[in-house]
Amino acid sequence: MIILGIETSCDETAAALVDETGNAARPWHVRSSVVASQVEIHREWGGVVPELSARQHIRDVCGVVERALAEAGSPRFDAIAVTQGPGLVGSLLVGVSFAKSLAWARSVPLVAVHHLAGHIESLTLEGGEMPLPAIVLVVSGGHTSLYRIATPGSYELLGRTRDDAAGEAYDKVAKLLGLGYPGGPVIDRLAQTGNDRAIAFPKTRLTHADRNAPHLPGRRDFSFSGLKTSVLRHVNSRRTALGLPDGASLPDVELRDICASFQRVVVETLVDRLFDAAREHGARSVAIAGGVSANRRLREDAARRGVAREVGVFIPAIALSTDNAAMIAAAGLRAFRAGTRGTFDMNADAALRLAP
Ligand code: KG4
Ligand code: ZN
Repeated sequence: MIILGIETSCDETAAALVDETGNAARPWHVRSSVVASQVEIHREWGGVVPELSARQHIRDVCGVVERALAEAGSPRFDAIAVTQGPGLVGSLLVGVSFAKSLAWARSVPLVAVHHLAGHIESLTLEGGEMPLPAIVLVVSGGHTSLYRIATPGSYELLGRTRDDAAGEAYDKVAKLLGLGYPGGPVIDRLAQTGNDRAIAFPKTRLTHADRNAPHLPGRRDFSFSGLKTSVLRHVNSRRTALGLPDGASLPDVELRDICASFQRVVVETLVDRLFDAAREHGARSVAIAGGVSANRRLREDAARRGVAREVGVFIPAIALSTDNAAMIAAAGLRAFRAGTRGTFDMNADAALRLAP
């Protein structure tokens, strides 16, 4: 069976064809995967502008799907998987409407996919089925969530960010340092030559005393907005100390130290939570998916911790970790084989939850 995946939840228009291998350990094979990134459009505004994103998806979606079909070498597909949510509602609507129309025109079934199920299934798409139970950290510009997978296709939420996503914190910190958008790759690069102990930025600790979100047993939530505020305070105080005007760039060496110190706190927080959850749940593997998993230090620290804890660590290649439609097709195949079918009255859902 071949499935066409369509993804338009944020600033990438993507289509892919994925088929089944017949091998239960490595169930899927990518025939083609096309991504049209809007990053150059949004860079000018310092972040994703929802209305521009939706309009660009309309311009790109036909061409991207046509290219995915052409690159697969055959225009045939047996079902369509589309991201239903979460994401920007105008952007999601483009993909959902397009997928419904094409499914109707071709008389093939439709499968609605949760964007994070896609990120999680990118792991199996790349590395084959993980030893279960597995703990998966999905960490991107829009999400920082920890899931337990006890059986294939079941995703139990263990915790998520209460404010900014980790990628969002990278993007906001890069913006306040004058480093442009998206911030993750540039902070990652500058951090390599900075001193990660130069500035003692605080790690947020969420406790029972937090009245905004009552503590649930076993929950492992994240919070990154306090860290972003500490970076802002540090930058402002350094500008004052150096007699620089508001918005002026700090000396290069200080920027590198800030990036390295910020990144150390983010990565230690993510890796600690991931491996604490793995120990608590007796996990046989841990995994990281989503755009931030491209981060060099996160990859290295997680791999090292995995060796020390004797637990397998799965992280997809960069092309599968940032937004793409092959992961949506893979999650669609998993759901289709479990009996899930979309209906033509299905709608985009910006706040869609991933059922346990
Ligand atoms: O998964 P993704 O492509 O889109 C979302 O669903 O958000 O992730 C994009 C996010 C951005 O916030 C970007 O700054 C971050 O991933 N990112 C990184 C790196 N590369 C991308 N963050 C840290 N280090 C990186 N190397
Ligand atoms: Zn994503």
